[in-house]
Amino acid sequence: MSRLLSVSRAARLVGITRGALQKRIRQGDLQSFEGDISLDELAKLFPDTQLEDTSMLEKMEQFIESALQRARYKKLSDLTLPTPETLVARVRSLSREIISLQHTATLYQDAFERLSKQIQTIPLDSPEVTQTALNALQHRLLIKPAAHIHSDSEENLFTTDTLLRLMMAQVHIQPSGEEFYIEGDTSILESALSAGLPINYGCSNGNCGKCKAKLISGEIHQTRPHDYILTNEEKSNQVFLGCCHTAKTDIIIETEIAGQSSDIPQQSITAQVKKLESINEHMQRLKLRTPRTQRLRFLAGQSARITLPDGAEASFSIASCPCDDMNIEFHIPTDITANFHQQLQKIRNADKVELKGPDGDFVLDYHDSRPLIMIALDDQFAAIKSLIEHAVSLELAEYIQLYWLTATPADHYMDNVCRSWADAFEQFHYHVLTYDTQRSESVTVAINEIMQRHPADESALYYIDATPDKRASIMAALKAAGIEDERLHLNQQ
Ligand code: FES
Repeated sequence: MSRLLSVSRAARLVGITRGALQKRIRQGDLQSFEGDISLDELAKLFPDTQLEDTSMLEKMEQFIESALQRARYKKLSDLTLPTPETLVARVRSLSREIISLQHTATLYQDAFERLSKQIQTIPLDSPEVTQTALNALQHRLLIKPAAHIHSDSEENLFTTDTLLRLMMAQVHIQPSGEEFYIEGDTSILESALSAGLPINYGCSNGNCGKCKAKLISGEIHQTRPHDYILTNEEKSNQVFLGCCHTAKTDIIIETEIAGQSSDIPQQSITAQVKKLESINEHMQRLKLRTPRTQRLRFLAGQSARITLPDGAEASFSIASCPCDDMNIEFHIPTDITANFHQQLQKIRNADKVELKGPDGDFVLDYHDSRPLIMIALDDQFAAIKSLIEHAVSLELAEYIQLYWLTATPADHYMDNVCRSWADAFEQFHYHVLTYDTQRSESVTVAINEIMQRHPADESALYYIDATPDKRASIMAALKAAGIEDERLHLNQQ
């Protein structure tokens, strides 16, 4: 009897995204049983996956590290070790699963043998053809349990999966169905945020109670002794704080996740300047760091208002991923208001700035795994960058096409980042296009060219970020090409 795996665990095992594996299921290449995939079916579809062959994982790791400055897909040898106590709990949990599988296999074998004996009682004077069929059936029944010899690839996947289960616990969230992994003794909250899931939280240190969740199954371990915010009734009902607990075994929890921008409250926080640098003569990058206990909750694609120490204020799209919410990045054009620009040039590392937000609903639906076509016009790239990083972090889309349309090639101010994504991530495709500023219809012509390249993408979602003067013509061209409103997302910020 083959082990059953969730789609996200199976995708991780063979080193592809969840969206890409879901596509294989939709195409009928792989069967899923009530949302799970059998290990032997997976091994048949990916026969070349080897325990030592981590090239796919390394490829993903390279992408994530280069693009997002952090690693989610690691070689087994690089994973943080769980504590001995956690390791013992996971070994026990796996042992229970193996004993249960052995028990089920024994029951099947008994049933096969009983059925086989009954077949032997059938009179031998049955018509020859029936007898032949019965003999063949009896033979199959007798050899079935022993004949399920695992292929090399299935054994490799089984071994890798077992090692991963020992090193990392899987968390399944109800009712949303999202899943993520916990490495070492990282808290459940930290791990969910790193996976890009906008789970509810506030202080991150056990004081506010906003990260409450209910344990449905599995074992958790308290890593911080702060749970006085919980009532005795909540504790006896298996309610716990995500920021103060890690998972000992695979767990199922019940908690709320922000599904839309209106689920995220307005916040006002003080952040520290980490770095201000020039990207090119038209654009600067401001990197901020928030305190661990007071981070900005936001969804990819949203914006925030910055107030500088001398009082100048302006709103900008957030250019970083919510999966790394202590490090926030903004792209600030040098032609911003003169007052803001001048005050910005005076700030130094470790200066304090105020952040208010988030704003806007140019966000992903992270239950939607349809392909994504992103169109950035001129210097409107920050929100698109955040969306791409979040989609990758969530392993969301089947694939992502980025079209960056500018007046000159030099205006692709993060061309190197986009190229490194395209090199490292086979589901990401990057295209640069230029338009003629002297011809008003030139942007429409470029959009039509994009549409001609994707005639088959009838389900793709479009995310467009453009300056206000070009939005109407872009939307008109996309609608004229037959893209319904439901698939069009325009950044209005
Ligand atoms: S986030 Fe405040 S108690 Fe966990």
